[in-house]
Amino acid sequence: MKFSDEFEARFAEMAPHYPTKRSALVPTLLYAQDEVGYLSDEVIAEIAGRLELTELDVRNVISYYSMLTTKPRGKYNVQVCTNIACMLRGGEEILEHCKKKLGIGHKGTTPDGLFSLEEVECIGACSWAAAAQVNYDYHENLTPEKMDRILDEYRKKGTQ
Ligand code: FES
Repeated sequence: MKFSDEFEARFAEMAPHYPTKRSALVPTLLYAQDEVGYLSDEVIAEIAGRLELTELDVRNVISYYSMLTTKPRGKYNVQVCTNIACMLRGGEEILEHCKKKLGIGHKGTTPDGLFSLEEVECIGACSWAAAAQVNYDYHENLTPEKMDRILDEYRKKGTQ
């Protein structure tokens, strides 16, 4: 399979910084996932080959990290924290609000492929609870109204 020139440039720059090829696995998987949207069988085979690993080695690592997925997700992956700090500051309400607004449940994807939703454990933003992460962006001190505005902005951006 062929990745973009941008992926190849990032991979070429990053790989020599690691003591073994295997150590570059997680960042390589993240780059590939950002580019393809998920870690398909083809991507797994390609990365295993490059890093001199078996496909099973790669799949084992993927299954360990919740941010890695072998299934297609929406363009915007909305991860709502319901761990203790967020729970005390309305995290569960935010999650329920997102479920209703997007019409999907935990690990669901909207039919237009724009949003996926996930309930997650602490994302390290406890001081600004309730918090959610959309792809690599954090959103904090959430209320249902604020979450509405955030989702509307992503919808606008994603359909332009
Ligand atoms: S408990 Fe939600 S970010 Fe830590």
